[in-house]
Amino acid sequence: MCISNMEIHLLPSSSLAPFMFKLVSISILTLLSSFAFGTNQIPRNESDRLALLDFKSALVDPLGALDSWNSTIHFCRWYGVTCGPRHQRVVGLTLESRMLRGAISPSIGNMSFLRVLDLQNNSLHSSIPPEVCRLSRLREFRLNDNALNGSVPPGLSLCSNLEIFNVNNNELEGNLPVGFSTLSKLRQLQVRANNLIGQIPISYGNLSSLRVLEADINRLDGMIPESLGSLPNLYFLSLGQNNLDGIIPPSILNVSTLEILDLSYNQLVGSLRPEMGFTLPAIRSLSVADNHII
Ligand SMILES: *[C@@H]1O[C@H](CO)[C@@H](O)[C@H](O)[C@H]1NC(C)=O
Ligand SMILES: *[C@@H]1O[C@H](CO)[C@@H](O)[C@H](O)[C@H]1NC(C)=O
Ligand SMILES: *[C@@H]1O[C@H](CO)[C@@H](O)[C@H](O)[C@H]1NC(C)=O
Ligand SMILES: *[C@@H]1O[C@H](CO)[C@@H](O)[C@H](O)[C@H]1NC(C)=O
Ligand SMILES: *[C@@H]1O[C@H](CO)[C@@H](O)[C@H](O)[C@H]1NC(C)=O
Ligand SMILES: *[C@@H]1O[C@H](CO)[C@@H](O)[C@H](O)[C@H]1NC(C)=O
Repeated sequence: MCISNMEIHLLPSSSLAPFMFKLVSISILTLLSSFAFGTNQIPRNESDRLALLDFKSALVDPLGALDSWNSTIHFCRWYGVTCGPRHQRVVGLTLESRMLRGAISPSIGNMSFLRVLDLQNNSLHSSIPPEVCRLSRLREFRLNDNALNGSVPPGLSLCSNLEIFNVNNNELEGNLPVGFSTLSKLRQLQVRANNLIGQIPISYGNLSSLRVLEADINRLDGMIPESLGSLPNLYFLSLGQNNLDGIIPPSILNVSTLEILDLSYNQLVGSLRPEMGFTLPAIRSLSVADNHII
């Protein structure tokens, strides 16, 4: 930027001497600025490399999936790593089903260009580091089928680009984060088979992009929020095997996009309405077994 500006000033110059002088001063300036850059801060692509190495060092890797993560190969070509074409920044980390064991390093939060984090179906344990909440460009968060414990970091609601959040089949505790209701791009919220407690936030009725809400096999209680009936794109709603009570809100039995509805194994009461066949025109699978519905 700076150099091209100066070149514009140079062009009208007729004498060669000042031209040479200016060229020399430009290269000194460039040299000085790159020197200052090198000493004062780590170049950002280098911080991605360090973060990846730190992530690797916290894991046991029986299949050698991360063997290519060595200094002879640029990190953009390491197995499972995807970089953006222009800036050599990590945009994807995809290491599914590699039998990786250990904790997720907090350094993962340093890869600030990360859009896809897919570590599904490994043996990752301990809690999800809250540093993931710094990944503001994150779109896909797939940590399902591991052994993660602790709670869902509430700060993930800052990741406003989040589209897919899948932590099915872990050992997570605590509540569904209320703040997730601001994730306007969230399409899939999948927390099946964990140890989550508390109520489904009423504000989730604001998740206008939501297509899949999969929260069965937890310990959720309270009533099913009527607000879920206003989700315009919902086609999969699975809340079976929890401790939900009260009636099935009529609004839920009125979602024209709904294809799969599983509310089985709860303490729901009331009765199903005969006109349901008309109000759920897309329904393919409906289960309300093992409740108190007559
Ligand atoms: C970091 O980026 C600079 C400038 O684009 C490049 O010269 C250098 O090779 C990159 N380093 C790594 C480790 O990618
Ligand atoms: C990640 O960033 C934090 C804070 O900027 C820094 O202290 C830490 O050393 C970084 N980790 C790595 C592995 O570079
Ligand atoms: C780095 O990884 C590549 C690919 O797995 C391998 O061929 C190479 O020998 C490795 N280099 C070192 C120094 O380990
Ligand atoms: C999570 O699991 C780790 C070991 O895998 C354990 O040390 C830690 O106490 C557990 N934390 C919680 C909150 O259960
Ligand atoms: C949904 O969002 C609107 C606008 O942001 C807000 O006024 C309303 O309180 C929200 N509804 C719930 C149930 O949180
Ligand atoms: C069901 O949907 C129809 C049409 O969208 C609407 O008029 C009606 O009020 C809804 N009923 C309930 C109980 O939400």
